[in-house]
Amino acid sequence: SSKKVKSPPNTNQLIVAHRGASGLAPEHTLASYELGEKVNGTYIEIDLQMTKDGHLVAMHDETVNRTTSGTGFVKDMTLNEIKKLDAGSWFNDMYPQYANEAYKGLEVPTLKEIFQTFGNEANYYIETKSPIVYRNMEEKLLELLDLYQLSSHNEGTKHVIIQSFSSKSLEKIHELNPNIPLVQLLAYKGNATISNKQLATIKKYAIGIGPNFQSIDQAYVEKVRKSGLDIHPYTINDKEEMENALLWGVTGVFTNDPELFQKVLNTF
Ligand code: G3P
Ligand code: CA
Repeated sequence: SSKKVKSPPNTNQLIVAHRGASGLAPEHTLASYELGEKVNGTYIEIDLQMTKDGHLVAMHDETVNRTTSGTGFVKDMTLNEIKKLDAGSWFNDMYPQYANEAYKGLEVPTLKEIFQTFGNEANYYIETKSPIVYRNMEEKLLELLDLYQLSSHNEGTKHVIIQSFSSKSLEKIHELNPNIPLVQLLAYKGNATISNKQLATIKKYAIGIGPNFQSIDQAYVEKVRKSGLDIHPYTINDKEEMENALLWGVTGVFTNDPELFQKVLNTF
């Protein structure tokens, strides 16, 4: 396993490699994370699901249908069954312009394998997906962070951030370990607004929010920043939108193209 020493994350503007560099390689594979991680200081974004036998694996959907050669719910499959699936070939079929022989047969990685591969100096931005389906996923996640000495990094730094759409999941984590920085994800339809009361409630357990970029504007970003919370909108892949987000004062972005965002950052 590689233990590269990274410069501390830029705490002003985080680059979050959404599902890895998922514009260029099959999402949530080690190949996609490796490409994302090449951009210095980048966070590897990991969506978590849990197998029938209690292993945390990196996958966006509750089913394996879209991103592997198999079908079915992750919760109904053992890790052994998941490991037999091909998590790369679908990408070659879908995006022939980025297809790569090396993507054929890639496995679904476990969170443990990801930590073993990238070590405890890498930056991770981990999402508890479907915490209602997976009852103790928070405890499992915190156990693994402890095991790989990732929890202790959080005093004053942000090597590991945990995100969720579920405030219950975040509140549970905050109770179990108040040192881990948390981000409340929000999904708006139409134009987003947020009240000072909502911001104050979130601030009790989280350091920031992650709204969908398409619904927010400059006033929204300024209000959030004024409350003292960070704001990391998802998912921005377009250069002009990246520039706008930065002008509005966001403190980081989720992107499928972390290299492009770094280029844009360099011009600011
Ligand atoms: O976690 C931020 C963003 O990734 C949320 O959307 O559906 O891609 O997990 P999703
Ligand atoms: Ca996510």
